[in-house]
Amino acid sequence: MITKPSAKTAYTCLVIDDEPNHRHMLRLHLEDAGYICAEAANGADAVAQLSERSYDILLLDIAMAVMDGLSFLSYIRQNGDNTPVIVITANLDAKTAVSAMKLGAADYMTKPVNTDELLTLMAELLQAESPAQPASKSSYKFDGVYSAAGLGKIIEPLAMVAPTDATVLILGESGTGKELVARSVHDNSARAGKPFVAVNAAALNENIIESELFGHVKGAFTGAAAAREGRFSEANGGTLFLDEIGELPMATQVKLLRFLQEKSYEPVGSSKSITADVRIVAATNRKLEDMIAAGSFRQDLYFRLSVFPVYLPALRERVAEIPLLIEHFIDKYSARFQKKIKGAAPEFTKKLQKYTFPGNVRELENLVERSIILARTDMLTEELLPELSDANEARINSDATLKNNEKQTIIDVLKECEGNRTKAAKQLGISRRGLYNKLKEYGLE
Ligand SMILES: Nc1ncnc2c1ncn2[C@@H]1O[C@H](COP(=O)(O)OP(=O)(O)OP(=O)(O)O)[C@@H](O)[C@H]1O
Ligand SMILES: [Mg+2]
Repeated sequence: MITKPSAKTAYTCLVIDDEPNHRHMLRLHLEDAGYICAEAANGADAVAQLSERSYDILLLDIAMAVMDGLSFLSYIRQNGDNTPVIVITANLDAKTAVSAMKLGAADYMTKPVNTDELLTLMAELLQAESPAQPASKSSYKFDGVYSAAGLGKIIEPLAMVAPTDATVLILGESGTGKELVARSVHDNSARAGKPFVAVNAAALNENIIESELFGHVKGAFTGAAAAREGRFSEANGGTLFLDEIGELPMATQVKLLRFLQEKSYEPVGSSKSITADVRIVAATNRKLEDMIAAGSFRQDLYFRLSVFPVYLPALRERVAEIPLLIEHFIDKYSARFQKKIKGAAPEFTKKLQKYTFPGNVRELENLVERSIILARTDMLTEELLPELSDANEARINSDATLKNNEKQTIIDVLKECEGNRTKAAKQLGISRRGLYNKLKEYGLE
């Protein structure tokens, strides 16, 4: 199955590789798929060609004698050329992958290239390129790391919604970065200098949650000796982050809905409406649709909240981002523990890229932190992760039935989409890479 880029005009592509055979083979495949293709024998040759004309996408080998891939990438980026680049290389070590991503490569693949997978990736990148890019894209403040093909995909929509006052609903498994994203929405809005107040509905007792959010008047209930301001009042002018929104009791859901509709609320025990200028960002790791069906979440509130839903993919659906995250956490924790750690050994990174990460980025962060504490040399090595493979196997065994259902669902959706993997991934709510990993896992390739 070949995925063609969905365009009226053909896209142009430059294949940069010093192996003539590989370069030529790739070119033939791409031309078959409708691309207009040119070849460059090394980085310097590519620079020369790019001074003549530009291309929609570049495929880049790393090890080349005359101007290697990383130097080439760094050179064109410094010259303001933001053409999407896919790195294709024989031996990709984690360090090179991280450098390439940092220099702005969209993704990477190892030789021998699965052309089907490459074409899907190219089509995806080219589609992502076509809509007008918000000017603020690169200047989006985010207190973490991401690659263009991973979490980077949600940065563009975030950059568009952040400056508005629209309610944002952040969806994603535990540890995927929901709070980080919520903060970024605040930091990239005009409210940035004002308070960002986070409330975790799961951490609050059902009896006090309303008073916590909306405040109460003196004598509102037994023990309310004095009046108290709530979190809405505290967040006035700023952003209120309602974490684990799925845990809100029904009665509080009504009050929240009222606030979203009228921008006003009543403190517990009071009948006086108070207006507040508060932007709501909510998050949950639960399937609110299921909760609505079960009668534990209000549908009208859901509609109000999901004006702008943002879905954070699980870490196992963006494994290409793992080296980047590892490096980020090495920097963070080696500074914190004042330990000189140069980096991660390739086997360390590989082991983590094979793991399923039920706890997502938080779990990765914890593993790197612990590894840094335990490291006896200046490199993180796989011996620092003894339990990982076992944990993985245990999980796979216990999830046997679940996996079976998953496999069937994937087969069904693929059929529905007539084998179009990009479409199927979209329908399944996972990334293209996530789908490939699943197909591999189930031998469905
Ligand atoms: N892209 C990223 N770059 C750097 N750090 C990240 C990234 N994503 C998540 N983290 C880190 O991972 C940890 C978990 O992130 P966060 O608390 O935002 O997740 P969450 O989705 O809110 O989790 P939970 O559902 O358990 O509340 C945090 O320490 C956060 O800093
Ligand atoms: Mg959280």
